Amino acid sequence: MENNTEKVSVKVCMGTTCFVMGGGNLQELNEIIPKKYGDKVEILPVNCLGLCSINWEYSKAPYVKVDDEVVNEATVERVIEAIDKRLGIN
Ligand code: FES
Repeated sequence: MENNTEKVSVKVCMGTTCFVMGGGNLQELNEIIPKKYGDKVEILPVNCLGLCSINWEYSKAPYVKVDDEVVNEATVERVIEAIDKRLGIN
């Protein structure tokens, strides 16, 4: 058995671009994540991941980062999927 004490960090962008593009719905993760993963996953709200400004015309906001992986056009489902992948759950 693997001794994995590292937590997966989930950074949910609370910046304006992400928020207006639907990031508000991601608030749900604050309830779902602790229920589903306990303390294996931590949620960190961030102001802007700096991803919206790279190419805002084709913005794929809202953005969430699961460890180093960027989830674009983030929805609750897509974020959960990325966390499961991180944790090796399929
Ligand atoms: S507002 Fe989300 S990456 Fe900038």
